[in-house]
Amino acid sequence: APDANIRPALLSEYIGQPVVREQMEVFIGAARGRDEALDHTLIFGPPGLGKTTLANIIAREMGGNLRSTSGPVLERAGDLAAMLTNLEAGDVLFIDEIHRLSPVIEEILYPAMEDFQLDIMIGEGPAARSIKLDLPPFTLVAATTRAGLLTSPLRDRFGIVQRLEFYNIADLTTIVKRAAGLMRVTMSEDGAIEIARRARGTPRIANRLLRRVRDYAEVKGDGCVNGVIAASALDMLAVDRRGLDHLDRRYIEILRDRFDGGPAGVEAVAAAMAEDRGTLEDVIEPYLIQQGYVLRTARGRVLTQMAIDQI
Ligand code: ADE
Repeated sequence: APDANIRPALLSEYIGQPVVREQMEVFIGAARGRDEALDHTLIFGPPGLGKTTLANIIAREMGGNLRSTSGPVLERAGDLAAMLTNLEAGDVLFIDEIHRLSPVIEEILYPAMEDFQLDIMIGEGPAARSIKLDLPPFTLVAATTRAGLLTSPLRDRFGIVQRLEFYNIADLTTIVKRAAGLMRVTMSEDGAIEIARRARGTPRIANRLLRRVRDYAEVKGDGCVNGVIAASALDMLAVDRRGLDHLDRRYIEILRDRFDGGPAGVEAVAAAMAEDRGTLEDVIEPYLIQQGYVLRTARGRVLTQMAIDQI
């Protein structure tokens, strides 16, 4: 990932998410003090807010290795068994997109999480045998865009559950300044604020916009990012002054023009946009709802007066 070298490695470098940071400092400090593995941790929230970053930080702070995989990649029982049997005491197993785990894999995960036991069937028919292996104490860190997509037995096995929130402008400004420093980009306070304001509350977007604004500043200016340069670059990228991108605007326009402002079912809006429902629910809607443009009601999605006034 392009962000790999600018990612914070320690909790003390992590900006924003004060509730998560404070809690994790306590839980990590306590686990280390007892020389135990940290409890299994579920991190949920919209894409780009730092779920993978936090998994990396947990492994680093606990002094273990990080082993990463994802729900869709774990197809067969053997895939998960191979990962589990390679763990050492205190390691972190990171499973991204945990909501996309197959039921078979989920069943193997339960005793692994609860009793550090690997319990799998090998072979078929009369020769089939069940084997049990002890696993070292490890921490499962799992990430998902929506915790509601997990089965409750799986959700209940996480001792720590953290929800990442969209970042405020002040925290995003600090993140942009930190990244600019690491990238050796000269930037004014105004430049950082302009990028932060238009980053949809999302560090991954802020860092992407920073790269594009740097390109613009180098070609159209002297390489320094100030407020004027940042605003022109972001206008060129079609990120508007409210920080909405073209998908956000299309969502609002379709709800307004094709559904008379709603209520409209998410499937119907997705079909009208030619996007899949998951993209709407995971990527587009959380920010529009948090910012007060859209309401999610029992009868469907509804545009707020603010959205009608502004778009
Ligand atoms: N880069 C991306 N997200 C960050 C965060 N929360 N803190 C510091 N740097 C970041």
